[in-house]
Amino acid sequence: MTLLLPRRGLLRAGMAMPGLALLGHLPARADEYPFALGVASGEPGSDSVILWTRLATRWQGGGITPAPVPVDWVVARDEGLRDVVRRGRAMAVAEDAHSVHVEVTGLDPDRPYWYRFTALGAESGTARTRTAPRPGTMPAHLRFAVASCQQYEQGYYGAYRHMLAENPDLVVFLGDYIYEASWGRNLVRSHEGPSARDLEGYRDRYALYKTDPDLQAMHRACPWLVTWDDHEVSNDYAADRGEMEEGAGFLARRAAAYKAFWEHMPLPLSARPEGASARIYRRVGFGDLAGFHILDDRQYRAYQACQRPGRGGGGYVSREACAELDDPARSMLGSAQETWLREGLHGARARWTVLAQQTRMARLGTMRTPVTYWTDGWDGYPAARARLLGDLAASRAPNPLVIGGDIHAHLVAELRPDFDRPETPPVAVEFTGTSITSQGGRYRESYPADPHIAYANGSARGYLMMTLTPAAATSELRAIDDVRDRDTGLSTQRRFVLEAGRPALLPG
Ligand SMILES: [Fe+2]
Repeated sequence: MTLLLPRRGLLRAGMAMPGLALLGHLPARADEYPFALGVASGEPGSDSVILWTRLATRWQGGGITPAPVPVDWVVARDEGLRDVVRRGRAMAVAEDAHSVHVEVTGLDPDRPYWYRFTALGAESGTARTRTAPRPGTMPAHLRFAVASCQQYEQGYYGAYRHMLAENPDLVVFLGDYIYEASWGRNLVRSHEGPSARDLEGYRDRYALYKTDPDLQAMHRACPWLVTWDDHEVSNDYAADRGEMEEGAGFLARRAAAYKAFWEHMPLPLSARPEGASARIYRRVGFGDLAGFHILDDRQYRAYQACQRPGRGGGGYVSREACAELDDPARSMLGSAQETWLREGLHGARARWTVLAQQTRMARLGTMRTPVTYWTDGWDGYPAARARLLGDLAASRAPNPLVIGGDIHAHLVAELRPDFDRPETPPVAVEFTGTSITSQGGRYRESYPADPHIAYANGSARGYLMMTLTPAAATSELRAIDDVRDRDTGLSTQRRFVLEAGRPALLPG
């Protein structure tokens, strides 16, 4: 076992840390602060929310003591926790790494709540969450941040400090919460361990990331909706195939990764994995203003087209050289999730239909001849993409917005079922948010072969701030100045406004 918590992060968080100076392989002690990984909330319903914590002190390897630990929780209408509306006790067990997922119900709609955990004689500090407005009511606005890709070694989480100052109602996290492996240039801090491959390795990786004070503060401020991308398991994996492994061995790794993901996220019990399977695609509503369709494009997808012999993962291929690319049998979501999404789109009634998913959906070919496409994103599944966008049009789901991550760039695009017919009206607008820290690539000013790309910029780290009202959706592309500076400044690269009833971009 090795030291888990970087001292600097804890001191910066300003938390009381009795026992911090103790080093060595000690048994669990009541005077060790057990909330070192913070607290979180998620899945806001109109009368419910999930509260999360994981008891851990300084040690890697899945917790503090093999014994179950009672964790008391309280929810109040006020920050001082005087007007208590719910309280209870959960048991944190070693089997789940002493994580706790409390499904609090019976709350009032559309209001803030404050909560706190108590365990082993210590208090977690007070955090804030909120409930969603009731279906049948039209809230005046919803402000949510879109975040993804937070490679710990490649930068500090200054983006979250700025996001916190904007006081969003909700954070939507679209994958790559952890990275299983080290990579990148000019690293500012270390994973302090090998690539995660088993349950202990993934748990340690989440625990390390969750010691970051800016990330903890953002979790304390509002509920999150989370989905995963590839790095929660391994780079570019597809279903049961990773880059260098597949079958039963890979599924054992995937099971460990999925378990650790659930243990560290404010997800409901319904998302708890069984073996290598976990249902995380779901819908979350925010009154009649927004309906979120949260997708999983990793677990059920076909393998990337035309893989190199003996290897999994993505690559660049042309349609000319890779007939498999256009095979309509290939799916990104899997047939069950495709059907679930189609049915949900046909039933969508909220003013804004938000598809929260992992990767860029808009076509973006290279400038080579013949044009090549990156096979790990939706460009590798063009028939499935055309099917989805066709469903979106046929369903007449109100005002579709697609939000994405993965590409470490801000990208804004109009989406059409046939990208070769730019004269046809778009069926949705896509906003892909850049990474919190992960290093990005270069983008051009314009793409003549892909005129639906309105904006692309991979130069800055940051996030999207989305504001929905009944009349308009505004997307602000936030960029931090320097990912290597914890106290970095912030600017807005661009601002786009979308009027309800017109699926096309207006300059902001
Ligand atoms: Fe990423």
